[in-house]
Amino acid sequence: MTVKRTDRDGVAILMIDNPPVNALSCRTGVVDGIAGALRACASDAAVVAIVLCGSGRCFSAGADIADFGDDPRSDVAPVRALMALLDDIGKPVVAAMHGMAFGGGLELALACHARVCADSTQLALPEVTLGLLPGAGGTQRLPRLAGPEAALDIMLSGRRMSATEALRLGIIDRVSDGDLLTAATALGREIAGQPAPLPRVRDRSIAGSLDVAAARSAAAKRRGLGDAPRLIVECVEAALGLPFDEGLAFEHGAFDRLMVSEAARGLRHAFLAERKAPSVPGLPVPRPAGRWSTAAVVGAGTMGTGIATVLLEAGFRVSLVDSSAEALSRASATVERAIGLAVEKGRCTAAEAAARSERLRCVADLDAAAGADLFIEAAFEDLEVKRRIFERIDRIAGPDAMLATNTSTLDVDRIADATGRPESVIGLHFFSPAPVMKLLEVIRGPRTAPQVVADALALARRIGKTGVVSGVCDGFIGNRIFEEYLRQAYFLLEEGALPAQIDGAMERWGFAMGPLRVMDLAGQDIGWNIRKRRAVEQPDRPYSRIPDLLCERGRFGQKTGAGYYLYPPGSRRGEPDPEIDAMIVQHSATLGIARRDIADEEIVERCLFAMVNEGARILEEGIAARPLDIDVVYLNGYGFPRFRGGPMFHADRLGLPTVLDRIGTFARGYQGWAWEPSPLLARLAGDGAGFATLNG
Ligand code: 3HC
Repeated sequence: MTVKRTDRDGVAILMIDNPPVNALSCRTGVVDGIAGALRACASDAAVVAIVLCGSGRCFSAGADIADFGDDPRSDVAPVRALMALLDDIGKPVVAAMHGMAFGGGLELALACHARVCADSTQLALPEVTLGLLPGAGGTQRLPRLAGPEAALDIMLSGRRMSATEALRLGIIDRVSDGDLLTAATALGREIAGQPAPLPRVRDRSIAGSLDVAAARSAAAKRRGLGDAPRLIVECVEAALGLPFDEGLAFEHGAFDRLMVSEAARGLRHAFLAERKAPSVPGLPVPRPAGRWSTAAVVGAGTMGTGIATVLLEAGFRVSLVDSSAEALSRASATVERAIGLAVEKGRCTAAEAAARSERLRCVADLDAAAGADLFIEAAFEDLEVKRRIFERIDRIAGPDAMLATNTSTLDVDRIADATGRPESVIGLHFFSPAPVMKLLEVIRGPRTAPQVVADALALARRIGKTGVVSGVCDGFIGNRIFEEYLRQAYFLLEEGALPAQIDGAMERWGFAMGPLRVMDLAGQDIGWNIRKRRAVEQPDRPYSRIPDLLCERGRFGQKTGAGYYLYPPGSRRGEPDPEIDAMIVQHSATLGIARRDIADEEIVERCLFAMVNEGARILEEGIAARPLDIDVVYLNGYGFPRFRGGPMFHADRLGLPTVLDRIGTFARGYQGWAWEPSPLLARLAGDGAGFATLNG
C-alpha cells in the first residue's frame, strides 16, 4: 500500500506513503498506486474533491532517482501519465504540501487544481543539479503560474523557495499556519462548489516575456551541468511560443535526451554514491546524537579553528585548546568573524550567533577540557607531537569519549598506541577550509571499535559533512591518490609542459583547479615536509625535484605571494611567472631531457589514469571498501568535476580495457616505472567488467 485513502465529508485524502521521502517510484508501483487511487475517487460519486498529500517528513522529493536507467521513456512515462490523468480527472484535486516538494513532487502539485503549503514547506525544481530538467510538465506549467523570468530562475538555479515566496510568485494558492489537511480539504470543497470550470494550470496563458539573450547567458554560466541549462531556456521559450501539448512534447524530448547524457549519468552517480558512502555494511547503530554535546579541539591553527567553527555551528560546546595565547586570540577572532558572516548572510539569527559565541571556550591547558565527549587533535603533522597529545588526552577523557586525530597522512594506529584504549581512537580527516569542504575522511584503524566508526559517521552527518571510511595507509584514500596525480603533473613539467598548460588542461576538462594551482593554495611547505619524511622512509623511490626547487626559493604558494604562479596583492588566481617557467626548462636540461610538445589530451589521461590505477590498488588493499567511496572522496574533497561522476565511475565509462591499454603505453614512456598496472584493474578489464560491479 503506497497510497492511503481516508475520506472526510466528501473529500478523499490520498496520502503518498513511500518512506523516506515519498519518491515517485515507477519501479515499486508508487506512481501506479496514486493513479489507481485517483481513478477510484473519480468514479466514486460520494467524492466531491481530492486532496493529495505525503506521509512522514515531506510531500515528495520527486521522481525516484534510483529508477533512472538507460530508457528514459519507461523510467518516467508513468509519472507523465499521472500528470495527464490529473488534467482530465474532472474533480478538483488539491496538493497539500508539507516538508519538501521537490522535482517531480512539485510537478505533481503543479498538475493539481490548487496548492496549499504549511508555512515551513520548501519547494524546488532541482533537476538541473542532476543534469536534467523538470520532465513531467514543470517547464510548461511553472511559467504559466510564476511568469517566465521567475520560472527560469527557479529551474536554472534549482534553489529552494519558501512557502511565502511561492505564494508571492503565484505558484501556490495558500499558506496554512494551522492544520494543513483542514486547509486543503476546505479549499477542495470551495472549488467543487464553484460553477466555474476546474482551474487547470495548462489552460492559463503566460503573463510576461523572456529576455532570451539574458536567459541564454545565465544558462551559459551554469557550468558542469551538461546541456541541461541551455535546454531549460529552450523549454521556457517553447512554453511561450507553442500550445501546451506541443511545449510538453518538446520538454519530454529534451528530458529524454538529457537522461542518457554523460553529465546526467555522472551527476546521478554522484548523488547516489554520496548517500551510499556513509552507510557501511556491518556497523552497529550509532549511539544517540544527544550523548555528543561537548568537544575539545586541540590545536588552534587553521584546521583546529575551522573544526571548532563547524562544531559550534552544529550545536557543540567547544573547548579550543592551545598553549599559545597568540594562537588562541587569533583563533577566537576568526571564529567570531565566521559567526558574524553567518548572520550577515542570513544563515543564522543574532540570537543563535550569540549562543555560538557563548559555547566557545579558549583554554591554554588541555586539563581544562577534561570530560569532553569528543576530542579532536588538530596539531602539527608530526607523529611524536600527536602521540604526546594523545597520552595526555587518554589521562583526562571519560571512558566513552571518542578520541580523534585530524591527521592527513600519519598512521592512526601508532597514534592509538600512545593511549590505553586504541579502540576509541579514530582519524577524522577534515579538509581545508573545514567550514566549507564537505568531505570528512573517517580513518578506521585496525583496532578502532566498529561502534566508534558508526558514531563518527553519524557525527559527520550531524556536522553537515559527507563521511567516507578509509583504512590506514600513508595519505589514506584522498592524499594517496592525489600523490600519483601530482607525480604525473611533475613528470609532465619535466618532459615539456609548463604549469599553466597542465592546470589549463585539467580545468578545461572540468576540475575546479589544476593540480599545481591546488598546491599553491594548500601551501607548498606542507608537501615539502611530507616529502622529507618519505625520503627517509622510502629512499629508493624516485620523485621529481621540481616542488622542492620551488620551496628552496621560499615560494610556498599563495601565502607567500608566489609558488608556481605569482600572486600580486588581491590576486588569488595567480599569473604565470617567467622565472618559474625558466626554472622548469633548466631543470629538464639538468636531467638531460629534450623537452617536447605535450597535447592536453595526454596531460588529462596521464593525470587521470594515475588516479584510477592507484584507486584500484587502494581497493585491492581494502583501504577503500567500494569504488564509490573513492569517487565521493574526489567529488567532495578535491574538486573533481561532478558531472564526470568521480575517477572510478569515469574509468568505467571509458571502459577499463581502454584505460589499461593507455597505461601500457605510458609504461613505455618517461618514468614508466610509475605505470605498473594494478592487478585488480587488469583482472576487471580482462573480465570485461567495471569497477561498478564492486559497489555492492
Ligand atoms: N529519489 C530516490 N531517492 C531519494 C530521492 C529521490 N528523488 N531523494 C532522496 N532520496 C533518498 C536518498 O537517496 C536517501 O536514501 P537512503 O536513506 O537510502 O540513503 C534518503 O532519500 C534520504 O535522503 P538524504 O540523505 O539526501 O536526506 P536529506 O534530508 O539530507 O535530503 C532531500 C533530502 C533534500 C530530499 C535530498 O535527498 C534531495 O535533494 N533529493 C533529491 C531531490 C531531487 O533532485 N528531486 C528531483 C528528482 S528528478 C525528477 O523529479 C525528474 C522529474 O522532473 C521527472
